[in-house]
Amino acid sequence: MPVTPLRTERLLLRAWEDSDADAVLDIYSREDVYRWLGNPPTPCPDLDAARARIARWNALSTSAREGLWAVETPGISGISPQPCGTALLVPLTTSSGEKSDTREIGWHFHPDAWGFGIATESARALIGQARANGLGEVHAVVYPDNVRSLAVCDRLGMTRLGVTDQWYGVELVDHVLAL
Ligand SMILES: CC(C)(COP(=O)(O)OP(=O)(O)OC[C@H]1O[C@@H](n2cnc3c(N)ncnc32)[C@H](O)[C@@H]1OP(=O)(O)O)[C@@H](O)C(=O)NCCC(=O)NCCS
Repeated sequence: MPVTPLRTERLLLRAWEDSDADAVLDIYSREDVYRWLGNPPTPCPDLDAARARIARWNALSTSAREGLWAVETPGISGISPQPCGTALLVPLTTSSGEKSDTREIGWHFHPDAWGFGIATESARALIGQARANGLGEVHAVVYPDNVRSLAVCDRLGMTRLGVTDQWYGVELVDHVLAL
């Protein structure tokens, strides 16, 4: 089910589409991006794999208000590609591979889109969505040396819970935000 579009002051968050495969490949083939994602981190190798990722992401959306959004930047000029990244609100996967009742927010952007506040602005939109969905809290899990992502959690006012191997089968810094 495609996620419902969300608008912020500078951004449009909308469902990923097949025609975004070039952007997905550009973003997720970069070591600066994929090294911080998944267990184990895996690059997107080609356009077929990019299209498969888009299909998988859209299949993850079990409601129009939860899933992975493509982020465009109509309010910021000169950023390429468009969309320039992903903002997500999904169930956290436990280390035994099950979907939990705990929701995480997350952010993945092309390096040319770093340094504009885009991750923080899109995460705030998803925090608003999580609140509208009736959630009591959201988490964010970050590799311990991912300084830029830890800084996003701080900007959002999240509380750092410490390192845990509870999620995704790897040691990550868990954060929570009460809604
Ligand atoms: C993690 C990641 C999303 C952080 O991106 P980011 O651009 O640093 O984060 P923000 O959106 O919060 O932007 C903050 C920066 O924008 C600057 N900025 C510029 N204009 C701004 C504005 N209008 N509003 C807010 N911040 C603004 C801030 O000063 C800050 O700059 P600094 O880092 O030089 O201090 C990005 O590094 C990334 O995609 N990494 C690869 C994937 C990844 O690691 N994902 C997270 C997995 S847990």
